[in-house]
Amino acid sequence: MEGIVVVGAQWGDEGKGKIVDLFCQDADAVIRYQGGNNAGHTIYHGQEKFALSALPAGIISPDKLSVIGNGVVVNPQALIAEMKELNDRGIDTSGLRISERAQVIMPYHIELDALSERASSNRIGTTKKGIGPCYSDKINRRGIRISELIDPEVFAEELKKVLPFKNKEITGLYGGKALDYKKIFDEYSEYGRQLKPFVVDSTELIEERLEKNSRVVFEGAQGIMLDIDQGTYPFVTSSNPTGGGAAVGSGIGPDKISDVIGVVKAYTSRVGSGPFPTELKNEIGDRIRETGHEYGVITKRPRRIGWLDAVALRHAIAVSGITKLAINSLDVLSGLDEIKIATAYKINDRLIKYFPADLHKLETAEVIYKTLPGWDEDISSAESLDELPVNAQKYIQTITDLLDRPVLSFAVGPHRTQTHLISPLWKNSKEGAL
Ligand code: GDP
Ligand code: IMO
Ligand code: MG
Repeated sequence: MEGIVVVGAQWGDEGKGKIVDLFCQDADAVIRYQGGNNAGHTIYHGQEKFALSALPAGIISPDKLSVIGNGVVVNPQALIAEMKELNDRGIDTSGLRISERAQVIMPYHIELDALSERASSNRIGTTKKGIGPCYSDKINRRGIRISELIDPEVFAEELKKVLPFKNKEITGLYGGKALDYKKIFDEYSEYGRQLKPFVVDSTELIEERLEKNSRVVFEGAQGIMLDIDQGTYPFVTSSNPTGGGAAVGSGIGPDKISDVIGVVKAYTSRVGSGPFPTELKNEIGDRIRETGHEYGVITKRPRRIGWLDAVALRHAIAVSGITKLAINSLDVLSGLDEIKIATAYKINDRLIKYFPADLHKLETAEVIYKTLPGWDEDISSAESLDELPVNAQKYIQTITDLLDRPVLSFAVGPHRTQTHLISPLWKNSKEGAL
């Protein structure tokens, strides 16, 4: 098996969904390995637009095996609704498989996410989907897994054990209203019944079903700078979007991974609170937001915008094992007189090339920029690097020089047809592959 991991190299929304959709055309399976319905992945098939949240991007291509891995947190209600929405649009989702080891997002997780954000003086700006509280329970060994959800007797037992703790937290800590056992049990055991046919041991499935020369895309959600270990903690999500997270969250060994593709937007965006050294709080930022339609796929929140940050990207590449870059949204920068890239930070008179852990230090950082000339041309139909204006080519060259990684693909629009591979993606040849 050959595995390719797709990670977001910034703060999310780099265009991972589109890249996974493109890569999976030549693959057999797609596995989502972390996060939950906090993600919003946009995919176009022709003129049809899909906004996926809980489902792996492979689901739009029904001949692919699409798997929700053990590292994912699953909101059963949201998942069932997303599947139904696709079914109503003529997409068959019966091939989906869900790891029995994945954790379930329960109503108390969603409630606690909202309550703790409201009570906090240091808001993260979460998506309020219950992600953090669900992962907390997983680590605290109080989580309910899919395998338990689909067995009503086991589910009843587990819910009876955990709910009193959660209600104490809701009422005692936050002054909220206790949740009703029977209401949750009735609703969620029904979800369990509906999801049961999709539930598998995903490791066994991959081992048994995929042949030796199969190709698997591991789909990351969020971005490396939102990683719980490596991101701008505590302004992060609660899982590991890094390359290593792919093995942990899919139950497949790292020996199967041949490449880690870092998806990089030609500028930077961020949703929610937290440091953003290259942020543009001016008309250039506003212009990029409007041109790039930078509003949350699910939450519709306006995204914060900034220049490309080679310091954050160097960190992302190092901690994630990124081997190649997929650069998206070059077209959004067309028409700017000049474009900047952060090459280093200066903290206490020292030049820093890797993202610091200490956010207090970061607050004092002066960002050192390299300024490049922009381009005016509409590049949205360019199909090769040669067809790009010289200044756009120089911009790409500068990125690869600063980051010391080759570019695998570049994109000049949100459609698959506007995303161009520069070199072959898969190492092993495969009979019958496109
Ligand atoms: P994801 O979460 O990483 O999958 O990314 P999102 O879907 O949340 O956000 C990426 C946004 O950029 C979506 O609106 C995409 O349609 C759009 N997009 C992706 N690639 C390009 C590109 O090359 N050019 C432009 N203009 N938009 C792009
Ligand atoms: P995709 O996969 C951008 C951000 C939230 C918040 C922080 C924690 O579409 O790139 P959470 O609800 O996860 O506890 O929120 O993480 N966040 C994202 N930002 N894209 C995402 O996903 C995100 N998922 C979470 O805005 O700052
Ligand atoms: Mg997104």
